[in-house]
Amino acid sequence: MKLKTLTKQGLFAFLITVLLVNTSVAQQELSVNLSKTIAPIQPTMYGIFFEDINFAADGGLYAEMIKNRSFEFDNPFMGWLQPKSDRHSLNSNSGIATAIKYTGNPTNTTYCRIKVNNDAGYQLINEGFRGMGIKKDAAYNLYVSAAKPSGNIKTIIFQFIDESGNVLGETKIAPTTADWKDYTVQISATKTEAKAKIKITFEGTGDIDLDMISLFPVDTWQGRKNGLRKDIVQLLYDMKPGFLRFPGGCIVEGRTLEQRYQWKKTVGAVEDREILINRWNTEFDHKLTPDYFQTFGLGFFEYFLLSEDIGAEALPILSCGMACQFNTGELVPLEELDPYVQDALDLIEFANGDITTHWGKLRADMGHPKPFNLKYIGVGNEQWGSAYIERYKVFEKAIKSKYPNMIIVSGSGPFPEGDYFEYGWEELKKLNAEIVDEHYYKSPQWFKDNATRYDAYDRKGPKIFAGEYAAQSVAIASPKNKNTWECALSEAAFITGLERNAEVVHLTSYAPLMAHAEGWQWTPDMIWFNNLDVYGTANYEVQKLYATNKGTDLLSITNKGIDVTGQNDLYATASKDIKNKTVIIKLVNTSAKTQDVVVNLLGKKVSSKGTIIILTSENLTDENSFETPNKISPKKADFKLKGKRASVSLQPNSFTILKLKLI
Ligand code: AHR
Repeated sequence: MKLKTLTKQGLFAFLITVLLVNTSVAQQELSVNLSKTIAPIQPTMYGIFFEDINFAADGGLYAEMIKNRSFEFDNPFMGWLQPKSDRHSLNSNSGIATAIKYTGNPTNTTYCRIKVNNDAGYQLINEGFRGMGIKKDAAYNLYVSAAKPSGNIKTIIFQFIDESGNVLGETKIAPTTADWKDYTVQISATKTEAKAKIKITFEGTGDIDLDMISLFPVDTWQGRKNGLRKDIVQLLYDMKPGFLRFPGGCIVEGRTLEQRYQWKKTVGAVEDREILINRWNTEFDHKLTPDYFQTFGLGFFEYFLLSEDIGAEALPILSCGMACQFNTGELVPLEELDPYVQDALDLIEFANGDITTHWGKLRADMGHPKPFNLKYIGVGNEQWGSAYIERYKVFEKAIKSKYPNMIIVSGSGPFPEGDYFEYGWEELKKLNAEIVDEHYYKSPQWFKDNATRYDAYDRKGPKIFAGEYAAQSVAIASPKNKNTWECALSEAAFITGLERNAEVVHLTSYAPLMAHAEGWQWTPDMIWFNNLDVYGTANYEVQKLYATNKGTDLLSITNKGIDVTGQNDLYATASKDIKNKTVIIKLVNTSAKTQDVVVNLLGKKVSSKGTIIILTSENLTDENSFETPNKISPKKADFKLKGKRASVSLQPNSFTILKLKLI
């Protein structure tokens, strides 16, 4: 076509085409130097941040199905219903439950006394955590403490019921004594039901006392009695996480000092663990969950056990004597900090101490005589200002003088920049802090723009724990945030920058970890569950791909000698795994177009056969869900190499991993 023959519109269309052709990216040539390790990649590089937010512990990972099992919530009958009507139209006269205080029991304070006047009429129902998920033919262990002070209650009947009251399984116990006695029975479900409840009725009349009414699936993680939800732990295990940080987050600090997380109250016999209101209970007006309490059935011993089970280093974070600065910001005076510091020292003894020590003995009594081999301890969560630095110094001195090899994690506050951040870093550097925790809840664009964040960090300064991060599709703490593919892809791009800086970045974790579909307060979250099912989001898939393909040695990957950090919407990192003799190249294309890339593999020979793993989705707004849990999931295929050149067409908006064998 000759230019002079073009109409005005034709000329316009032609110019647009020329412009597009000129801006389209030509094939990009990258180079990986296989023979030079830049830095080791720490085994802890990709880990897990666990916090009891969004019903993650009670109502989630901790498989207990009864809410308020020991009648110790602020309202002792929260979660319990006493319907007035019954099958013979007798009503409230049929019986009544009252909460009674034990004398002299500071931790297990309350039990329930039921006066049964008419056994055909009275019933007590527990609603579970937004219902109970029961599975057809699955067995459940039911425990109860009961005493029969007067009258003649012959049988206590426990039934699963659905929302219409249909019975989906039943079991009974015969209380025998006037004194407290523990009973254990099994109940099987005749049908799968997401919103089951448990109904308790009686045969006989009189007074009956009940406490610790507890129900767990038999099929828990590792088959442990009163254990964790197997399906949820499986997702964590599959990530092969390098560490498990617990128990949070702001929950460590508490809204007030009184409500801080105190690990000593979470160990020992479960029934003696003192209940505490969950600080997320009414934190957000957009998602009030007044029935959110911490029973600590999942306590520090169980966190250590979980870390061990999933092959992760335990990373407990403790209160440093400062309540959450977004709430009351209460401070323990420096001269009264001793008990807080002692908690840290005792925790190390609990984890690692010989069984002849006070806390080591408790660990052994709980079933783990071998030490947990704790290496890390965190002091404070999102604290800021001089008050934090003053307290951190006291902790550091005490911990290091007793346990010089313990690695201490400090914090730089809630924001990844600004005055608090600058001040915290300046002071922590002066103190030669070992690992500093940074948090960022930012837009997808921020994540893409910040893939170079750590390029200029001092290699001789403190190491980095990117301890809480997640791309927010709307805004931080907005209830409208979604786990979109756009967010996950932007994180994938950003993580190339974490990995490329493995010399200084030693630990990283997405946050928050998980949420109950009906009980959440904060979104986005990496894993979503309801009472029956669980799925990993696109963000989970990104985390898992990095964690399971991290390699041991960082390699350089460059374009004309320059790191690939988002030029032409392309991000890259490369590593090798010396144990498996594998080269791992990660490429993130955040453009809406296919990008052709050639990777030149220099310095060592690689086999012509490899593997390609691709994670992508058609639309940036796509998400995984309970209905389509694998919509965004990695696809694997064989990959062929021509000589030393790996040619790959990167799909639009995709995360690609090439795995090649060293020969
Ligand atoms: O992950 C949710 C919260 O975000 C954490 O508790 C806190 O540390 C951060 O502000």
